[in-house]
Amino acid sequence: MSKKNIAVFASGGGSNLQVIIDLCESGDINARVSAVISNNSGSFALERAKKAGIPAFHLSLKKCASQEALDRAVMATLSGQGADIIFLAGYMKKIGEPILEAYKGRIYNIHPSLLPKHGGRGMYGINVHKSVIESGDLYTGATIHHVVAGEYDGGGIIAQKTVAVSENDTPETLASGVLAQEHLLIKETLPNLIN
Ligand code: GAR
Repeated sequence: MSKKNIAVFASGGGSNLQVIIDLCESGDINARVSAVISNNSGSFALERAKKAGIPAFHLSLKKCASQEALDRAVMATLSGQGADIIFLAGYMKKIGEPILEAYKGRIYNIHPSLLPKHGGRGMYGINVHKSVIESGDLYTGATIHHVVAGEYDGGGIIAQKTVAVSENDTPETLASGVLAQEHLLIKETLPNLIN
């Protein structure tokens, strides 16, 4: 069977992207990362892509005149790189409707909480972990889910991992504990989405 082409969208450090690259390079999944797209020109994910010889694209409203133009540029990049599926690995922007429509059922996101808790508008990165601490939850975790039009973090849940919250946790310690579990969750779940 031919390899699946994964387009990874990332805004920040790209450690989840790195896990996906490593799974492809080790042959654990029959896939390649055919494109990395970031809204952030300073994202370390773009560096990780370049280092691995993966085409890397900075696409944002700073580079495109309108949301429509940005959606067209993203679609052209996905088509040009032959993307079969999209994985959002720490992508902090909303995905345009034309992309959601074209890749319906083939877009996945990893979120740093036990959805449906601590999801939705404004719930990304450290904000999620602040919200967990403020709410006094005893458990948090990570979720891989389908991405659907119309609602942030609203698509069907595919897999989750749980992390206990201790009294001494800060948003930063939780972020790092959850991120480690995200890496494991991707390793366990991505093979089922690809193979
Ligand atoms: C991860 O914790 C990911 O779940 C989160 O951003 C971090 C990216 O880390 N994503 C969101 O908050 C999206 N709602 P990474 O850049 O090291 O992969």
